[in-house]
Amino acid sequence: MKILYIGDTVASAGRAIVKQYLKNLQEEFKIDLTILNCENAAAGFGVTPKIADELFDWGVDVLTSGNHIWDKKEILPYLTRHPRILRPANYPPDNPGRGLTIFKTRNGDEEVAVLNLQGRVFMVPIDDPFRTGDIELAKIPKHIKVIFVDMHAEATSEKVAMGWYLDGRVSAVIGSHTHVPTADETILPKGTAYLTDAGMTGPFDSILGVARNEVIERFLTQIPVRFESASQDARLNGVFIDVDSSTGKATKIERIQRK
Ligand SMILES: [Fe+2]
Ligand SMILES: [Fe+2]
Repeated sequence: MKILYIGDTVASAGRAIVKQYLKNLQEEFKIDLTILNCENAAAGFGVTPKIADELFDWGVDVLTSGNHIWDKKEILPYLTRHPRILRPANYPPDNPGRGLTIFKTRNGDEEVAVLNLQGRVFMVPIDDPFRTGDIELAKIPKHIKVIFVDMHAEATSEKVAMGWYLDGRVSAVIGSHTHVPTADETILPKGTAYLTDAGMTGPFDSILGVARNEVIERFLTQIPVRFESASQDARLNGVFIDVDSSTGKATKIERIQRK
């Protein structure tokens, strides 16, 4: 099973580069399953039903997210209604939506599970992602071997810990949220592909996707400013993972960047 994961897609610049490269990447890597983190897709803050529909139409199979998923209120009923858009599973259980989805891939014969978790270090104090991970993984029928985890977290240590915690129990643990790609891709000893952060898909002439001057002004003055998304130097950051479908173990992980 060949999986493409596209990191936090930011605003119109990020969506445009996804549209430009997605089909090519799917053909080049013979992709069976495409996952994209959509938490910043709508002008940097959250995602709207229209944008989510568009991303699905372009060929994304699952949308994962993170702390920004709650920014656009119109997405809340969509989260409840649509089984393939995820919010981190360890938010309070009565929040709209879900953090785990199980489905058959487009070619129809392989069942996969995708789980979204969020860290707590330097982030909102939600439930324990490790314990929630155990609870969610226990819901996946035993015959499903291919399991992908998007670990949305600020602290590198928390993401590395999750990789080792889930090694051998899932096919991949890929980090999101920091918008800066890391170069530590590896396959852990028990077969889990791991990368601390896939990085942002969006405008790199920016500060994590936001117009530079506004962020610098906020650091200088400590006065809240309205953040506008940047638009220049769009790059797509993601990762390719090949998984042995019979065992669920990863056989290859490769970072992808397109400009
Ligand atoms: Fe993000
Ligand atoms: Fe985030």
